Amino acid sequence: MIPFKIDLTEKVVAVTGGGGILCGIFAEALAKCGAKVAILDFKEEAATKVADKINAEGGTAIGVAANVLEL
Ligand SMILES: NC(=O)c1ccc[n+]([C@@H]2O[C@H](COP(=O)([O-])OP(=O)(O)OC[C@H]3O[C@@H](n4cnc5c(N)ncnc54)[C@H](O)[C@@H]3O)[C@@H](O)[C@H]2O)c1
Repeated sequence: MIPFKIDLTEKVVAVTGGGGILCGIFAEALAKCGAKVAILDFKEEAATKVADKINAEGGTAIGVAANVLEL
């Protein structure tokens, strides 16, 4: 639970390692603040799973397979 509301409407955020536990939760929190979230992860299936959850809850997200050390 975020004790205050940060307005990230119209912002686009890239979350590296977003298919994992901690950054997946960060990605969800950012989406709840209105950000459009790009979830980058080695594991495409994990990134897509987090994006699907955000989209199902009314947010906007995309899962992208990427090695963030080679961008
Ligand atoms: N979960 C915890 O309670 C906890 C507690 C303390 C510290 N940590 C540390 O925090 C970090 C994240 O923890 P977590 O539990 O979310 O881990 P996790 O393994 O669930 O998530 C990490 C994600 O990063 C992705 N990843 C790794 N290297 C990548 C790369 N080069 N490019 C793209 N994606 C990449 C992995 O595929 C994975 O999905 C780890 O270093 C962990 O040791 C976690």
